[in-house]
Amino acid sequence: MSAGKYKSHVSLTQLNLNFQAELMKSGDSTGIKRGLTNYGDPEFSVYIRRAFAKAMGYADHELERPIIGIIDTSSGFNSCHHNFPDLIEAVKRGVLSQGGLPMVFPTISLGEMFTAPTTMMFRNLMAMDTEEMIRAQPMDGVVLLGGCDKTVPAQLMGAVSADLPAISLVAGPMVTGDYQGERLGACTDCRRFWRDYRAGVLDDGEISVVEDRLCASTGTCMVMGTASTMAALAEALGIMLPGGATPPAVMADRRRQAEATGRTIVSMIRKDLRPSRILTPNAFENAIRVLMAIGGSTNAVIHLTAIARRLGISLGLKHFNKFSDETPLLVNVKPSGEYYMEDLWKAGGIPVVMKELEDLLHGDAMTVSGTTVTDNLANTQHPPEWQEVIRTRERPLLENGGLACLFGNLAPDGAVIKRSAASPHLLEHRGRAVVFKSLDDLHNRIDAPNLPVTEESVIVLQNAGPIGGPGMPEAGYLPIPKKLLQSGVKDMVRISDARMSGTAFGTIVLHIAPEAAVGGTLALVQDGDMIELDVPRNRIELLVDESTLARRRSNLVLPEPQFQRGYGKLYIDHVQQADLGCDFDFL
Ligand code: FES
Repeated sequence: MSAGKYKSHVSLTQLNLNFQAELMKSGDSTGIKRGLTNYGDPEFSVYIRRAFAKAMGYADHELERPIIGIIDTSSGFNSCHHNFPDLIEAVKRGVLSQGGLPMVFPTISLGEMFTAPTTMMFRNLMAMDTEEMIRAQPMDGVVLLGGCDKTVPAQLMGAVSADLPAISLVAGPMVTGDYQGERLGACTDCRRFWRDYRAGVLDDGEISVVEDRLCASTGTCMVMGTASTMAALAEALGIMLPGGATPPAVMADRRRQAEATGRTIVSMIRKDLRPSRILTPNAFENAIRVLMAIGGSTNAVIHLTAIARRLGISLGLKHFNKFSDETPLLVNVKPSGEYYMEDLWKAGGIPVVMKELEDLLHGDAMTVSGTTVTDNLANTQHPPEWQEVIRTRERPLLENGGLACLFGNLAPDGAVIKRSAASPHLLEHRGRAVVFKSLDDLHNRIDAPNLPVTEESVIVLQNAGPIGGPGMPEAGYLPIPKKLLQSGVKDMVRISDARMSGTAFGTIVLHIAPEAAVGGTLALVQDGDMIELDVPRNRIELLVDESTLARRRSNLVLPEPQFQRGYGKLYIDHVQQADLGCDFDFL
C-alpha cells in the first residue's frame, strides 16, 4: 500500500510535513502502520485499520500523523486522578499543536485507598498492562499519565521495557485543608489525628470533622509521601519536564505542564528520545541524590530498584547508603519537615532542589526536553523568601539524607529506615522483642491490656513481606499499644518486612529481606529476644546466638501460600524480595 494514497488535506508547517513524510514513507511501520494486527496480509491490515479508525471520525490527513498514546488511568476508584479529563484535554492540545495525533487509551488504575489487599501486589500487573498496551497498539510515543503511589513506578517499569519515546505526567498534589486554624495534609496528619483519637484526645465528633477536611481537593497526597516522591524522582530522572512534579492538581500551572508535555512528546519522537537514552546509571544517581534531599518515601528504594533493573542497572542498597551519607536533607516538607507540597511548588519545586545539589549531580544527563540537567538548571533561582521550605546547602535540615539502609543478621539482604522521620533518641536502641506473627495477630493483640510491652520494647511484625503480606502492605507503621499511647508514648522502635506509607513517621524499620514468609531471620524472632538498632552504623542485629537460631530454623514451618490460582498465584510464584525491587523474576 503506498503512502501517496493518503495525502494530507490541511496545510501544516513544513517541518511537520517533512517529519510526517519521513514517518510515513513506503514500507515504514510508524503511526497507524505500526504493529499491524496479523491477518496474513499487511496491506489489508493497514486498509482495515484505517477503515475502523474512520469509524471514529478520523480523516486521512489525521491518520498520517505520528500517533501519541495518552495513558488514562482515571477511575472511579482513584480519587487522586480525578483531574485527568482536564489534563488529557491539555495534553491533546499540545500534541495537536505539533502535528501529532493524540489517542487516549486506558490501563488499570491503582487507587491506594480502594485496592485490596494492597496496591503493591498489583504494581507489576499495571507495569505489564502498560508495557503490553504500548507495544500492542499503534503509537510512536506515549504520555504516561499517573500520580497515585504505585502508578508512576508501574508506568515507568512498563515504558522502560517497551522503550518507545515516553514522558511522565502526574496528577499533582492536593491542596491543604484546615482544622481549627491548623493546616491539614493527607496523610501525615491522618495518622497523627488517628493516634490522638486512639489515645482519647479526640472524640468521635472531632475525628469526623478531621475526616471531612483531610482531602481538600483531588490530587495526590500533599506531603512527601510515595506519590510526591515518585513524581520528584521522575523529574530528577529526566523522564518528566522540569518543574512537572509539584504544581497542585487544581492549579493552572498543572494544566500548562500537561500542554507542554503534549508538545514535548512529539519532539521526542523526532529525536528518538527513548527511556533507554534518558534513564542511564547517571540519571539514577541523580534521582537517588534528590530522594535523599527531599526526605522521600522508603517505597522509592523498591521502585527505583525495580525500574533500574528493567534496564539492567543494579542499584544495591549499599549504593543508597553511599548517596545518603553524602547528600543533605534540604526539603522541609512533612513527614520529615513542616510544610506541604504546595509550598514546595511555590518555592520553585524540584528544579530549585536540583540547583542546590548541582555540584553533586551528573549535569550531562539527558532529559525529555532534549537538553541536559545543566542546561535545564541554567536559569533556576532559589527565591530567598522560600528558603525555609527548601533549605540552602549551608543550612540543611540534616547533614545527611533522609533514608538509611540497614544490614545485620536480622536483615542479611538489607532493610530500610526513614531516619529523617524517626525519633533521634531511638536511632541507637536496644530492646526486647514483642512479636506478632501476622497482621491478624497484630490486630487482635496490640491493645490487649496484658501485652508485656514497655516503651523500650521493640515491636516485631512477621509475615507481612512481598509473599507473606501478600503484596508487602503498608502495614509497617505498627500501632503503638493503646496503653502506652495513653501514658504519652509517641514513638517506639518497630520492625517488619512490610512497607510503610511515605506519609508516615516514627522509628520504623521496614523491608527486612529476606522476609519471614521465605524463612528469613525475622521469622526466628521470639518474644523477649534482644534486638539492637544502630542507625549511625547501618546495623540491625538479633542478639541471639547462632546455635539457638539454627535450632529455631530447623523447626520453622513456613506459612501456606495464600493463592492457588490466577494473578495471585502468578504473583506469589514470581515476586522477588524487596532488595531486588519486588519485580517478577521473568520481567
Ligand atoms: Fe493516592 Fe496518596 S492515596 S497519592
